[in-house]
Amino acid sequence: PMAAPEGQWVLMATGRSPTNIAVIKYWGKRDEALILPVNDSISVTLDPDHLSATTTVAVSPSFPSDRMWLNGKEISLSGGRFQSCLREIRKRACEFEDEKKGIKIKKEDWEKLHVHIASYNNFPTAAGLASSAAGFACLVFTLGKLMNVKEDYGELSSIARQGSGSACRSLYGGFVKWCMGKKDDGSDSFAVQLADETHWNDLVIIIAVVSSKQKETSSTSGMRDTVETSPLLQYRAQTVVPSRVLKMEEAIKNQDFESFAKVTCADSNQFHAVCLDTSPPIFYMNDTSHRIISLVEKWNHSEGTPQVAYTFDAGPNAVLIARNRKTAALLLQKLMYYFPPQDKDLSSYLVGDKSILGDAGLHSIEDVDALPAPPEMKVPDQKFKGDVSYFICSRLGAGPKVVADENQALIDSVTGLPK
Ligand code: DP6
Repeated sequence: PMAAPEGQWVLMATGRSPTNIAVIKYWGKRDEALILPVNDSISVTLDPDHLSATTTVAVSPSFPSDRMWLNGKEISLSGGRFQSCLREIRKRACEFEDEKKGIKIKKEDWEKLHVHIASYNNFPTAAGLASSAAGFACLVFTLGKLMNVKEDYGELSSIARQGSGSACRSLYGGFVKWCMGKKDDGSDSFAVQLADETHWNDLVIIIAVVSSKQKETSSTSGMRDTVETSPLLQYRAQTVVPSRVLKMEEAIKNQDFESFAKVTCADSNQFHAVCLDTSPPIFYMNDTSHRIISLVEKWNHSEGTPQVAYTFDAGPNAVLIARNRKTAALLLQKLMYYFPPQDKDLSSYLVGDKSILGDAGLHSIEDVDALPAPPEMKVPDQKFKGDVSYFICSRLGAGPKVVADENQALIDSVTGLPK
């Protein structure tokens, strides 16, 4: 075979990484530059079919500099977080050879070669769903594949951590723990898988994307302010979280939904309490978030045992984890009663696993209009049309994967630019 002329080749890799939602929250750093947390955290990985980042990384001797495009728009790679991830991966790059294409890259060559990175999220970034977690996990995973990095996922997770803390938990599927570590250099601060996505597959996740015009405080600056001003945070990190982590690990191991739900809700509420304890106070939840909490609390109470767990990150969206499909369908009926869609099209009001609509008997807008008021809400209540933008129905999912199909690459293999 004819070798490509020197400098003409483009070598690429494409990967896809899930996002994750914490059930024990990470909030507060002990080291800002290395992104080392003040406590352990635990998350569930969401199905990448519904919420994930896809990234193509390309390398060529013809690229004069490192460049990146996010959702089609060029963004700067000059930030410290991108630079840390690129540096740490390049350090671990190994020799690569493709005789057919006439490509040979020696270990030391990787330092001189520049990369092009194109990434996109299969969910709206504007929805305020953790896009940095999926994004940095995918960047590190895919660069690792391209550069023939041999290190295990634990090591990759500690590199992704330096992009965004929560990203380290997206290197695995199922249930994941980020061990905070003790060392100053961060080498023992990485993620481990507690159980894979098949371990407890009854769980159904419904996300209510809550309408909000408000510009929210970023996690990074919010947690910095909390560390500097909240007296409650120390108590949370040193006393509350360690015992909750043990309880949560037990609950996951035993598929104990009651304990799982209690700890998840309590930890979400405490995270928002330390936000309120910050000076000036940070408000991430809004009236709609509070209404969803009340609905779930009342239903759980009336059933005598939790049916649904709720958790909220640095924004008003509710992530609801139902114990099984039946409870998820009932939950959807209750949510749709209070938050009916603004227009007639149900199929754009619930995205992801749409089959839950059928389970809930909701085939058309008329079915939504005919829903009875949830009996546990004793006084007949108002409805709040328009306060939820849409719902996503999902489940637990797997960790990062290589996308082998070249057609799905985001970069053109000839020009080296986004397609
Ligand atoms: C509320 O990982 O986005 O979602 O490390 O500064 O990038 P940085 O913050 P980030 O914070 C996530 C905070 C959270 C809780 C969690 O995911 O554990």
